[in-house]
Amino acid sequence: MGDQVKQDEVEIVGFACSFCSFKASEMAGSLRMKYPEGVKLIQVPCSSRVDPAFVIKALFDGADGVFVAGCHPGDCHFIKGNYFTRRKIAALKEMLDAFSMKNKLKLFWVSASEARRFIEKVETMYNEIKAEKDEGKKG
Ligand code: FES
Repeated sequence: MGDQVKQDEVEIVGFACSFCSFKASEMAGSLRMKYPEGVKLIQVPCSSRVDPAFVIKALFDGADGVFVAGCHPGDCHFIKGNYFTRRKIAALKEMLDAFSMKNKLKLFWVSASEARRFIEKVETMYNEIKAEKDEGKKG
């Protein structure tokens, strides 16, 4: 029974930079906006701090998806951090494509004031993965 519940759940690991995206998630909480329970958020100092190994480990440990959320280009508090992130995630997606897992990784930019955008991005990803998972069960 427990395994059945686990299979039905969508689990997403999200890395959010503390200056923008994580702040947006906190603002969303303050505004009583909700995102799906299966999303586990990890605060990082900058999106560039996310080592590709963190993403790979999360996916191979069973996460249905991983997202990295950072400051908008030009707004990174470490100047060029999110430009490094963009390149890193693009390379990682190419690698994941070899395992047909490219769509399990998303990168998006959310500023501290964009609580609604944060919720929309997370919900969209969650719903896409859930739909894929449900489709997989049918066929
Ligand atoms: S501090 Fe937010 S992406 Fe670098």
